[in-house]
Amino acid sequence: MQQQKLSLQEVKKSCENCYKCELGKSRTNVVFSSGVENNKLMVIGEAPGYYEDRSGIPFVGKAGKLLDKILESQGFSREKNIYICNTIKCRPPNNRNPLPEEKNACREYLDAQIDILKPAIIILCGGVAVKSFLETSPGITKVRGRWYDGPHGSSMMPIFHPSYLLRNDSREKGSPKWLMWQDIQEIKRVYDSI
Ligand code: URA
Repeated sequence: MQQQKLSLQEVKKSCENCYKCELGKSRTNVVFSSGVENNKLMVIGEAPGYYEDRSGIPFVGKAGKLLDKILESQGFSREKNIYICNTIKCRPPNNRNPLPEEKNACREYLDAQIDILKPAIIILCGGVAVKSFLETSPGITKVRGRWYDGPHGSSMMPIFHPSYLLRNDSREKGSPKWLMWQDIQEIKRVYDSI
């Protein structure tokens, strides 16, 4: 018998009952997504941090506030037109990078989010997200700002993680902040053409 496709609500529910990796034991909340369910724009970050674990909402700390500002500069917001999630849904201790086994255990939830929404554009936020999709990634500085073919015919663009921008204050030409400005404008250009 053919399996009925799950809804995002059902996927979220099974994620909330998930103990496939050790992070299930230490989490306060599963951090599944925020924003509106839409088929145009999805942002995939790395992993929940302290504030995300506490609130159950992705990107609510300092880096998240900067991400919101960057997106809002182009008319993107969680209320209107963007869906945000992470490669893994539970916080790693001390905000370390997710381990391969944690990413593997959580992959089915990320894949389900993509399969259900089928976003036309996927923004990969930072090196951890990039490595989940590009097999041989030469590092974020080399791949950011370029378009790659993603799942279901989507276009994927890697961008710097906002926490990297928080550590690099310069706005000079060629600086991480300046490059981010180029990237978000390019994303808007393609978004408007869809
Ligand atoms: N950094 C991420 O990559 N994701 C979050 O949800 C918060 C911080």
